[in-house]
Amino acid sequence: MNVIEHNIKITKAKSSKIENVNWNALGFGKVFSDHIFVVDYINGQWEEGKIIPYSEMAIEPTMCTLHYGQTIFEGLKAYYDINGEINIFRPDKNATRLNNSATRLVMPEFPEEKFLEAISELVAVDKDWIPKERGQALYIRPVMFGSSNFLGVHSSENYKLIIICSPVASYYAAGLKPVSILVSHEYVRAVRGGLGMAKTAANYAASLLAGKEAKAKGFDQVLWLDGVHQEYVDEVGAMNIMFVIGDELVTPTLDQGSILPGVTRETVLALAKEKGIKTSERRIRISEVYDAHERGELKEVFGTGTAAIISPVGKLNYKGREIVINNNEIGPVAHDMYETIVGIQRGETEDTHGWIHKVASI
Ligand code: COI
Repeated sequence: MNVIEHNIKITKAKSSKIENVNWNALGFGKVFSDHIFVVDYINGQWEEGKIIPYSEMAIEPTMCTLHYGQTIFEGLKAYYDINGEINIFRPDKNATRLNNSATRLVMPEFPEEKFLEAISELVAVDKDWIPKERGQALYIRPVMFGSSNFLGVHSSENYKLIIICSPVASYYAAGLKPVSILVSHEYVRAVRGGLGMAKTAANYAASLLAGKEAKAKGFDQVLWLDGVHQEYVDEVGAMNIMFVIGDELVTPTLDQGSILPGVTRETVLALAKEKGIKTSERRIRISEVYDAHERGELKEVFGTGTAAIISPVGKLNYKGREIVINNNEIGPVAHDMYETIVGIQRGETEDTHGWIHKVASI
């Protein structure tokens, strides 16, 4: 168990917006807590961070990020556990990934201990915003962007890191009900040597048109194939993807650099190994998935991600060929993974991995 000390300057909001929250209709990322953490990188160094009331932000029209997209972000969650303590799930992983994304986007790294301190203290200040129901959480969204003003194409001199909190329910309105996914054979999200492994705005912008077209056809999400051959499975965009083929849990390997290294992906692989499930990280052709289905060996498909945790996939459609997986019901592996992860996050199951960071109260 890890507990982080607090010593960031805090300016409290004059009044709270919490009275207006409808806790039964949170959705995802629609409601924001009273405070944010803000820190600036100026003249080659990070200044002291501070916690201030959530408010509008003044920017100039020439702020480089608006033009050239030098933006990275993270997503992690805080929970009340069954003993009334506040848990954050694997924030060290997000700190590392933020810095890996920063390196790819030519941005400064933010010290890991300061990241953990900022998150911990912000969550402590806005602890009343952590929902108490199982399946809900306080979603924490760090975002870092270039804040200098210019029009030449080069990296920013100055940067801003902001951390926002949002009480959320399930990412998908249907919760653990299986989603239907259109396999994109027209568009690609990332290419080898591109930005796919970074959590950067551009990857999400690249996904919007395909997502809109998939929604218009009645699908919940798009499954991306690799940008070189359009043959191998990459990821869904809002989550990584896993297949249970025969008795093996298979997920695309990260070694092509086009897939986001998901924290939940890594968590599921670690848990699966402990539970004695055979796991394999390798390249998977979409044709292999369909062949496995034909042979009756495609037992389950599910997505993994911080926002969704585990999201079963009930239908896949590739070039008009639709397959239904596990009778369009959540399968045993997906269900077990969801229960195990939520159990650890909520303190119902012992955290034998040191994945939980406790938030000290202020
Ligand atoms: C997450 O799972 O945290 C994500 O970032 C996915 C999405 C909401 C962008």
